[in-house]
Amino acid sequence: MNSDLTTGCPRRISILGSTGSIGKSTIDLIERDPDAYHVVALTANGSAEALAAQAIALKAEVAVVADPAAFVRLKEALAGSGIEAAAGPDAVREAAAREADWVMAAIVGAAGLEPTLAAVERGATVALANKECLVCAGDLFMAEVKRYGATLLPVDSEHNAIFQVFDFDRKDRIEKILLTASGGPFRDWSRDQMAVATPEQAIAHPNWSMGAKISVDSASMFNKGLEFIEAHHIFGLGADRIEILVHPQSVVHSMVAYVDGSVLAQLGSPDMRTPIAYSLAWPDRMVAPVPRLDFAALGRLDFRAPDPERFPAIRIVREALERGGGAPTAMNAANEVAVDRFLNREVGFLDIPVVVEETIEEIMSGPLGTQTVDRLDAVRAVDSEARIVAARRSARRRFAAA
Ligand SMILES: NC(=O)c1ccc[n+]([C@@H]2O[C@H](COP(=O)([O-])OP(=O)(O)OC[C@H]3O[C@@H](n4cnc5c(N)ncnc54)[C@H](OP(=O)(O)O)[C@@H]3O)[C@@H](O)[C@H]2O)c1
Repeated sequence: MNSDLTTGCPRRISILGSTGSIGKSTIDLIERDPDAYHVVALTANGSAEALAAQAIALKAEVAVVADPAAFVRLKEALAGSGIEAAAGPDAVREAAAREADWVMAAIVGAAGLEPTLAAVERGATVALANKECLVCAGDLFMAEVKRYGATLLPVDSEHNAIFQVFDFDRKDRIEKILLTASGGPFRDWSRDQMAVATPEQAIAHPNWSMGAKISVDSASMFNKGLEFIEAHHIFGLGADRIEILVHPQSVVHSMVAYVDGSVLAQLGSPDMRTPIAYSLAWPDRMVAPVPRLDFAALGRLDFRAPDPERFPAIRIVREALERGGGAPTAMNAANEVAVDRFLNREVGFLDIPVVVEETIEEIMSGPLGTQTVDRLDAVRAVDSEARIVAARRSARRRFAAA
């Protein structure tokens, strides 16, 4: 039973992005102990019918689609249920701001920033899956977490692993953190092979089952780059104290190295229900229905340094972080656009880092290049300009290839 330990009442929870991969895994855990939770809000983008089915099954108070065009379908699917329906980005933000003890932030992309901030501003406990929030507006986001006394629990498996073994009281005794990366489906592919990779090949992750965008990010290793910035903000460490290691088995989810030579790691099966369960039960622990590790069957764990030639994303992200200002915001927006174009077969897989790098360069050498992004309107300005630039750059590459 994971009800509120102090009152014994069901915990009030909301799930932003409930129809996605993380959202569904969260619901899988909640449905195993339904009396322990009262579901306040569930949100999606356009998956109205799936959202309505979840809302009815979980007796949610409100269901919201971000895409206004999906509202009629949501209304129809919820007819007679007594569940409130709403649509549009403002309604998603309002749903996130409703009184809930625990909010899962699992919208994909920068679209998750403002709803997640709405939960932060209420001082909620926020289980953060949406890494793009921290990439596009890390300083602003962390300042708001501090200002409103929100509790941030990282859900990304690497950051959740680090969180479990990171001694926040003795941070000066930490030498570095080691972020592990599976290497994705193209881990051993040549650049020539990657040049003709299809979206189907890119989303076929060898270890994890995830949404399309993060799967492509894993294939390009932009995902590890985004996580690098995410780790920098959550754990307050400089780039020189964050190392990336390829670990094909995805069993060691990340590690913390201390000054005495000790390295603490968190291990587990590659199943997001473990970090979600950790954040749901925190500071307690709950039973999670995940496959247990069998070390004898596993036999070995491998590690190697990432290859910067085949995977330029890590260098691009490091440089964006060093550059500061709007560079990470532009990088994130450009990556979202380029991934979308790749999934729609409009650009090739290797065009993704090129579009991202060109976009950062154009934004940072233009009028927005000197802008700080410590306010929401500044983040929005860089984000939307970078999307325009990235769309133009993507179209150019498409015509060049045609
Ligand atoms: N999947 C994983 O294993 C994993 C692991 C670590 C971190 N994460 C992070 O968690 C986040 C979610 O990943 P995911 O794999 O669960 O993604 P996903 O399967 O694509 O689901 C995304 C969710 O966000 C909703 N959404 C999409 N665009 C939106 C918009 N503009 N406004 C509001 N809602 C929107 C989607 O609704 P519709 O269904 O209606 O489109 C869906 O509910 C990402 O930031 C990802 O990097 C994921």
